[in-house]
Amino acid sequence: MEQSKTTRIVVIGTGFVGSSYAYALVNQGLCNELVLIDINLKKAEGDAMDLGHAVPFGAPMRIWAGDYADCRDADLVVITAGANQRPGETRLDLADRNAKIFRSIVDDVMKSGFDGLFLVATNPVDILSYATWKFSGLPAHRVIGSGTILDTARLRYQLSQAYRVNPQNVHAYIIGEHGDTELPVWSHTSIGVRPISDFLKRGIGPSQEELDQIFLQVRDAAYHIIERKGATYYAIAMGLARLTRAVLNDENSVLTVSTLLNGEYGLEDIFIGVPAVVNRSGVREVMDLNLSEEERKKLHHSAQVLTQVLKNIL
Ligand SMILES: NC(=O)c1ccc[n+]([C@@H]2O[C@H](COP(=O)([O-])OP(=O)(O)OC[C@H]3O[C@@H](n4cnc5c(N)ncnc54)[C@H](O)[C@@H]3O)[C@@H](O)[C@H]2O)c1
Repeated sequence: MEQSKTTRIVVIGTGFVGSSYAYALVNQGLCNELVLIDINLKKAEGDAMDLGHAVPFGAPMRIWAGDYADCRDADLVVITAGANQRPGETRLDLADRNAKIFRSIVDDVMKSGFDGLFLVATNPVDILSYATWKFSGLPAHRVIGSGTILDTARLRYQLSQAYRVNPQNVHAYIIGEHGDTELPVWSHTSIGVRPISDFLKRGIGPSQEELDQIFLQVRDAAYHIIERKGATYYAIAMGLARLTRAVLNDENSVLTVSTLLNGEYGLEDIFIGVPAVVNRSGVREVMDLNLSEEERKKLHHSAQVLTQVLKNIL
């Protein structure tokens, strides 16, 4: 009998984010083999045991604490390893520390003979996605940064509350750095089929000032959560699972990921969060939106900030 293709995902870094993502994978039955790698081997082993015991309640899956040789047959290597923000720290403050960690992780993955896609979540995610691209030597479309997928979800959730509609019907995007210089694309926001400008004109729903407040809550959400419980992980884990589905099911889904720009938005040689079509080959194409002048300026500012950090660490 012909054997069907086995799907293997390797998660590197089984901290809050990595283990929550692994749990989402088990819950959603997204792969056949799940390998957990962490510098703290005991943590990876404990998670593999705990998650393995969940398998009888879901879809069959092999789960083990592995090593870099296991990346050879992986479809997807997901990196969630490295330092997270301490209260008051920005994501960019982590750049130096985490770039060093990434150098050795990506080298070890590539030494295995890995020939799949990278999914990067560690912060600062735009910087580390670029670093993964450079360190790995893979074509840029095979490195997907989680970018502003989480920020976009936060915005859609807040707007869904304000307009009292299902977040699935909120079409809104945060673009730019996954961090302090990100921006909402109000010029391309709609609730169901109606542009948000229509709601504003008719005086239905939040005013522009209230929308601006909503954006600030979204932008600063990580700070507010970290202040309360030390880390954020459930929503990013679901976001990574969403990206995993888009890849493994070859969905051609439009998601806001961090990807290489080659002239789109007048920017190049930078990984930054923009809507892009994601499928089995990674990032198929970037959607080049016709931004308002103000949005374009803000996106360029965000890109400048990232470029400066890249210059300092690479
Ligand atoms: N992209 C996003 O939207 C998003 C959202 C939340 C958190 N994050 C980021 O995800 C990262 C992880 O956050 P967390 O809360 O899970 O942190 P954590 O401290 O709980 O976990 C990090 C894990 O990485 C492991 N690790 C460190 N160095 C390693 C190495 N060289 N090789 C293998 N494993 C190594 C640690 O042992 C630890 O288990 C942080 O950078 C955080 O800022 C990103």
